[in-house]
Amino acid sequence: MLHRLILSFALFLTFAVAVPAPAATPTRPPKSAVTVNAVAVDAPDVDTNGSGCRQGTVGVAFNSDNSIMTIILDDFQAAIGPQAGSYKKRAFCRVNATITSPGWAFDVSSVDFRGYVNLDGGVNASLVSRWKWIDTSKGVDLKGKGNINKKLAGPYSDDFLLHKDGESSTGEQSACQKASAMFQISISASLSASSSTVAGFVKGDSVDSTFGEILNLGWRKC
Ligand SMILES: *[C@@H]1O[C@H](CO)[C@@H](O)[C@H](O)[C@H]1NC(C)=O
Ligand SMILES: *[C@@H]1O[C@H](CO)[C@@H](O)[C@H](O)[C@H]1NC(C)=O
Ligand SMILES: *[C@@H]1O[C@H](CO)[C@@H](O)[C@H](O)[C@H]1NC(C)=O
Repeated sequence: MLHRLILSFALFLTFAVAVPAPAATPTRPPKSAVTVNAVAVDAPDVDTNGSGCRQGTVGVAFNSDNSIMTIILDDFQAAIGPQAGSYKKRAFCRVNATITSPGWAFDVSSVDFRGYVNLDGGVNASLVSRWKWIDTSKGVDLKGKGNINKKLAGPYSDDFLLHKDGESSTGEQSACQKASAMFQISISASLSASSSTVAGFVKGDSVDSTFGEILNLGWRKC
């Protein structure tokens, strides 16, 4: 009995040492402290004909506890081949989000990027997303940029989910500069085909047909 008790105590100790104390409740601003003021997207260009990125089809939102920011593109699609119709082989969207969070700043801890890809043999897709902060008063980029970059070769037909950790600020000053900076994220999908008879497309995933990214945020009080 005593042995068992000692053993369980020893196990408990090991457990207590090996497992960090439950993380302190993450610091996050209250719901009302974060506002998305403006979401600006670049005007359509000839290359993409604005695919997926017209004003009004792009949403930026925070969840109820501000732990996540989502970027939703309602109509992001690239297509190549005989059935491509009016879609282009490249879709591109650059979003400038002006966010107000007085006294608070965030780092992007990680990003999940999802959508659906369907490629014949002989067709490749390249998916790229980049994010960064811009100090608009000085016109310079701040520390904390990141990117996701993935190439897929057909035949391929599946939802994709790409995950990438973000770069954290090195200290309070570098984090808090972001409180007044503009957040910019770009998303692109490009297709290439070995002949004019093979086809492929990239679009929103099969779950809710939207294309988008989920950004997990690490907040800091400034
Ligand atoms: C987004 O921000 C960049 C950098 O400040 C700027 O050059 C570009 O014109 C902005 N785009 C829109 C649509 O406001
Ligand atoms: C560009 O998009 C518009 C609106 O979807 C469409 O009417 C037009 O045909 C497209 N132009 C080209 C060159 O594909
Ligand atoms: C697809 O990617 C493969 C591997 O990188 C490359 O060898 C091939 O030329 C690419 N094909 C097209 C059509 O871009």
